Amino acid sequence: MYTQNDTNICSSETSKRSRRAFIRAAVASGGSAALAACLEDRPSLNAPKGVAEPASLPDRQHAWNDALPTDQDGNVRPPKHHIFLSLSLSGEPNAAARETVAAALTEVERAVEWSSAGLLFTLGYTPAYFDRFDASLDDAVDLPKPSPIVVLSAESDVTVDANDGLLHFASDDAAAVLAAEEALFGERKRLNGRSMSASLDAVFERTSRRTGFVGPGLPADRQNGLDGIPEGEPVPEEAPFFMGFRSGFRESQATEDRVTIRDGAFAGGATQHFETIELDLEVWFEESDHEQRVARMFSPDHAERGLVGEYGERLGSETGVTTVTDEIHNHARERGVVGHAQKLARARENGKPVLLRRDVNTTDGDVCGLHFVSLQRELSEFTRAREAMAGEEFGRYGLGPRQSNGILQYLRVRHWGSYLVPPRTHRALPRPDPRM
Ligand code: HEM
Repeated sequence: MYTQNDTNICSSETSKRSRRAFIRAAVASGGSAALAACLEDRPSLNAPKGVAEPASLPDRQHAWNDALPTDQDGNVRPPKHHIFLSLSLSGEPNAAARETVAAALTEVERAVEWSSAGLLFTLGYTPAYFDRFDASLDDAVDLPKPSPIVVLSAESDVTVDANDGLLHFASDDAAAVLAAEEALFGERKRLNGRSMSASLDAVFERTSRRTGFVGPGLPADRQNGLDGIPEGEPVPEEAPFFMGFRSGFRESQATEDRVTIRDGAFAGGATQHFETIELDLEVWFEESDHEQRVARMFSPDHAERGLVGEYGERLGSETGVTTVTDEIHNHARERGVVGHAQKLARARENGKPVLLRRDVNTTDGDVCGLHFVSLQRELSEFTRAREAMAGEEFGRYGLGPRQSNGILQYLRVRHWGSYLVPPRTHRALPRPDPRM
């Protein structure tokens, strides 16, 4: 809950910086009347410029890359602020509910520009959502019931998402994700000056709310006082992620085309995996040096040859891990370590990545963590990658999950879910075959 002091942040004397910090903290802890007041008198969110008509937006909900900037190396730069809402249906997914969902989402698109400065979002549905229908899900969609990869379970207490949907908001503007959430759930009547005639709260209940952030400087800014990270500010200032390295290089990401479902009723959609991981970084930062961390994250060759730099600045747009995938068994046997990226590159198809990762850091519950988000055409492609990450075959060289088997040792999986992110046309409470 916000205190009177928090509200003062909105006063005009308050510096822009503390105002930004306040809105950022508000994203993490949820909206409030105080924040709403603060947002009312701030300059408007990024309003649509020339693309006011939702019909002009791409049919793929997950088509974000064209709306995102790139960094100095040509890698797509993800939006900084994220909210993930788990949704549970309050009633039947009937025509009236479907119309309400469609109207509410369209109004958000009319009010705020589809961009990282404005707002991007996806709405996905779990296998549990589709279970309520007599018909089964379109054959072209590979979305089995979630089944966590058990090799991490010794350390993990995993909840599987049995809700109905997952709404993911993303923006560089913390106020935009918050305002969109409030507008969609009836907590504000207007969004960016436009009135909302429909809201999702009649249809869905929010059963959990998770938040995330990503980008250079943000983890370093927030590393103090969290569970799972030692004192002494170990995260490099420029690192976009808590473990201290850049990620999401262009050559190790699947394209949006590659992750898009090609056939059937949901052609234009994608499957999505969402996993919450708590990080245990005391040992990572205190008992291993930078070279060992590079070896575990990338490969022992990357460490020996100094290919990465402090936080990945030397890598440009590719990690070069494909040159060391064939060496992986030698590395395990002779050097006693294999890298995370080195293991995962084995899940590529014809040399090309099949997962499009959109993971973000989190401090939910004041624990240092990561919400891992990936899109892929078929969920089995994610499973294959997760098995490559589990790296069970390296056990024969003495590399179990507690040894230098990539970064497994530092991760505790807490939440695990799979979703269909339908094309925009069918995003409002779809039937298993929305054409029927
Ligand atoms: C805290 C958890 C994690 C961290 C810090 C992390 C970090 C990284 C880093 C630094 C890279 C290499 C650079 C790049 O992204 O281009 C990478 C690659 C990758 N990671 Fe992770 N990762 C994590 C969890 C996961 C999980 C749960 C998966 C699920 C399968 C995964 C899948 C991948 C894949 C597919 C690649 C690309 C490999 C290639 O080049 O083909 N990661 N990760």
